[in-house]
Amino acid sequence: MTTNINFFKKELKNWYKKNRRSFEWRDSNNPWKILLIETLSQQTQIDRADEFYKKFIKKYPTPKDMAKDSKKEVLKLWSGLGYNNRAIRLHESSKILLKYSFDELYPDFTILPGVGPYTNSAILSFAYKKKIIAVDTNIKRIIKRFFRIDNVDVFLKKNTDLLLKNFNSRDFNQGLMDLGATLCTSRNPKCEICPLELSCQKYIVQENKTSKKFEGSMRQKRGRVLKILLLEKGVTKQRLSKELEITSKITEEVIESLMKDGLISISRNKVIVINDN
Ligand code: ADE
Repeated sequence: MTTNINFFKKELKNWYKKNRRSFEWRDSNNPWKILLIETLSQQTQIDRADEFYKKFIKKYPTPKDMAKDSKKEVLKLWSGLGYNNRAIRLHESSKILLKYSFDELYPDFTILPGVGPYTNSAILSFAYKKKIIAVDTNIKRIIKRFFRIDNVDVFLKKNTDLLLKNFNSRDFNQGLMDLGATLCTSRNPKCEICPLELSCQKYIVQENKTSKKFEGSMRQKRGRVLKILLLEKGVTKQRLSKELEITSKITEEVIESLMKDGLISISRNKVIVINDN
């Protein structure tokens, strides 16, 4: 298990260094900013939440700025995002924060309406550098798959210290959130290009179960194409047919399937390239 945990940490660290998405609040340790983005991003894609974050932090740089504004004004700025209860709770929280600062509430912010265990952990990790895992659905899914366990809470109780040893919790949490949002998605995970694939228990179990089917499958072909493209800048369709020893019709199908997932593109001179983002 320790070997697996070490592999998991090493690959995650490397992947996040190269692939981390940059947002203003990501490098901040201001708890108000963290509360704001975490509230905005519930049930909302992070890019969209970030658009609203920019508007909110400009108008309400501190809880006091929001508290002295009306609920109606907060709702107006929230307009278009949906789940308006979040805005109402945030406004109520800002009023509580007039009486008690984050530092006074530390380490338990759940007195603030809308702050549950996840947001509480996110504030502790991102604003207070606490060694804690902010367990959201993405993180749960990745841990379940990679370590092939059912009960994430029990697993984390036992292994959090080791997982976060020499790993700052902000990078650990945000790295897994990004990985879950881009590669280890709930449906159609992109195992072919996942840095954790080699030791991922879900991957290994699936491979063993379907090893006969996997040989020659579309998934295998997709993986082989991506591996070639990861090593080279761009290749022609003819070259792929030759490398994979498949007909041009099947090559077209593999290319189409990878393009549909946004993994590759065809540039004008018919060279296939891997997408950067
Ligand atoms: N979703 C919610 N919080 C996030 C964060 N800090 N980074 C990435 N995605 C998130």
